[in-house]
Amino acid sequence: MWLRCTSKCVFASLSRSYNNVLSRSFNIAAFMPEAAGFEGVSDRAALQEFSLSNSDHFWAAVARHRLTWISPFHTVQDCDLSRGRIKWFEGGKLNVSVNCLDRHVHTCPEKVALIWERDEPGSEVKVTYRSLLDMTCRLGNLLRRRGVKKGDCVTIYMPPCPLAVASMLACARIGAAHNVVFAGFSAEALAERIRDAQSSTVITVNQGVRGGRVIELKKTVDTAVEGCPSVKQVFVAMRTENPVVMTDRDVSMEELEDAVCEPAAMDSEDVLFLLYTSGSTGKPKGLVHTQAGYLLYALLTHRYVFSYHDGDVFGCVADIGWITGHSYSVYGPLANGGTTVLFESTPVYPNPGRYWEMVQRLRINQFYGAPTAIRLLLKYGDHWVHKYDCSTLKTLGSVGEPINTEAWEWYHRVVGDGRCPVVDTWWQTETGGICIAPRPSDPDAEIVPGMAMRPFFGMKPVLVDGEGKLLTSNNTSGPLCLAQPWPGMARTIHNNHQRFIETYCQPYPGYFFTGDGAHRSEEGYYQITGRLDDVINVSGHRLGTAEIEDVVNHCPAVAESAVIGYSHDVKGQGIRSKTVSIMSFTGTQITGVFLQFVQRLPKTRSGKIMRRVLRKVVEQDLGGLGDLSTLDDPAAVQEIVQGHQDLC
Ligand code: WTA
Repeated sequence: MWLRCTSKCVFASLSRSYNNVLSRSFNIAAFMPEAAGFEGVSDRAALQEFSLSNSDHFWAAVARHRLTWISPFHTVQDCDLSRGRIKWFEGGKLNVSVNCLDRHVHTCPEKVALIWERDEPGSEVKVTYRSLLDMTCRLGNLLRRRGVKKGDCVTIYMPPCPLAVASMLACARIGAAHNVVFAGFSAEALAERIRDAQSSTVITVNQGVRGGRVIELKKTVDTAVEGCPSVKQVFVAMRTENPVVMTDRDVSMEELEDAVCEPAAMDSEDVLFLLYTSGSTGKPKGLVHTQAGYLLYALLTHRYVFSYHDGDVFGCVADIGWITGHSYSVYGPLANGGTTVLFESTPVYPNPGRYWEMVQRLRINQFYGAPTAIRLLLKYGDHWVHKYDCSTLKTLGSVGEPINTEAWEWYHRVVGDGRCPVVDTWWQTETGGICIAPRPSDPDAEIVPGMAMRPFFGMKPVLVDGEGKLLTSNNTSGPLCLAQPWPGMARTIHNNHQRFIETYCQPYPGYFFTGDGAHRSEEGYYQITGRLDDVINVSGHRLGTAEIEDVVNHCPAVAESAVIGYSHDVKGQGIRSKTVSIMSFTGTQITGVFLQFVQRLPKTRSGKIMRRVLRKVVEQDLGGLGDLSTLDDPAAVQEIVQGHQDLC
């Protein structure tokens, strides 16, 4: 039941052909210098084992070696998963922006930090470490002068661009937390996140540009802040030439400031950012990440999972509004002193060759994208890839949802020319960085298509049964938990630690529950099977069914609604909404929606909507409807089946 419908024998035969049997001698000092002194560690397997059994020693060495500290930490970790207490590197003080900028400006000021791949191909802008630091300091001073202080939370509603990155880093510089909201969200969704974060400051741009279209971001902010009494000021940067109406609340970001901005000395466990993600109840969760642990985990995973080397150009095409953009467009690459791409456009603008033309033009070495885009692009045909020289590519990454074998194969064979490893990386907003990926420690390791495979250093994934008992054998499936704390994990849900404990710590006491199911193969490799709760995944974006129902239910003609995900061959899951009356679905950016209006919803006698029944109807699996005995009114199902057939 847990296993996705993928055939093991297909995996087995494919894995043989991708298996790289070369075994090279292992030079630990070259691979991970800080591990050279680890006792008894002479090969990769021993290093992996050491990171688990001597976790404190491992993380302390990595933290000392990779981060620049203002004062050293005295305690490596103080964690109790069963109580939701997670603390790393206490006593230590540092500044994240110094780690991402100043220290690289000292060694290589003219190195390119950001390549802003703007919507129009060929109009990219390169920003050096020196000028990104300059931009960050000016913004930090502007925020400080305008009263933003340590402990405040600044909401950023901007598309990927250097000023958005500088805004994030300016917050980090002065000790404020940031709350980046995806600039495709509606005014309503933005307002809810601003209110929950209690932001008094918002940063935005006049307009966005995406796929050749102009998007009125400032207007969306204007509407949103109407319902947010906490907001005192809105900083507005100019992405286009078009002027916008400025109110008393608005501040132009063109104001000139000094380029020297003293970095705040932050405690390891001070908040770095909030990032909202969907939960299984209506209210999105503001997951809280802190300074040292998050940054360390992002930088280490960025370097090892993708085999990132100095001088490489890293191309993560995720929006900065998602955790993937935070960890792998911004923090991981910059902490490593790398060159990172900020992608403003879409995979099909101006044509389906966009990604690969960009790879050629920017000489991208690691490309990190989502299966939904790969599935879309493969339908357009191989010639869109073959038109361009993608020989700079070394590693291809996939994230956000399971990658099906067809998409994996195409990515590997056509995009990667059969020579680039495809790393299917599993992780979540909650985990801060990649937890399971094919090659966390060994650039020659075997890769099985469509499998995330192996835990990263210090990570201990486990599967449990319904009672929470550990499943110890291989070739087994169950809820996926993480048994050992790691520095990158979220610390809490903003303003709701109880919800954090109930969601992640209580379902399987002693373990961190991920909400996903997984299969562990005969060989001990992990394959993610998907969400176990009512969160659905459309094009790699997490949406809570309850959250969408909230929006639908706001329509005056709708009494109630039930939203479910269904398999969609491009988007992963589409959304079907069954509403009991007529409605119009406006004002949100949710696409792939299919509505069916019904007189009543199938409910249990206790009033719970039986979503699994709706899912079966949509999948046209009427034989699989299962036990309907708890239904209050079985006729409701008949009506829905009939209505669905009429629609199809
Ligand atoms: C899903 C995105 C299968 C999973 C980084 C997880 C995946 C949710 C994979 C987190 C993968 C992410 N294979 N499923 N490689 N990566 N997921 O918070 O259900 O936006 O729980 O973080 O995406 O989504 P989030």
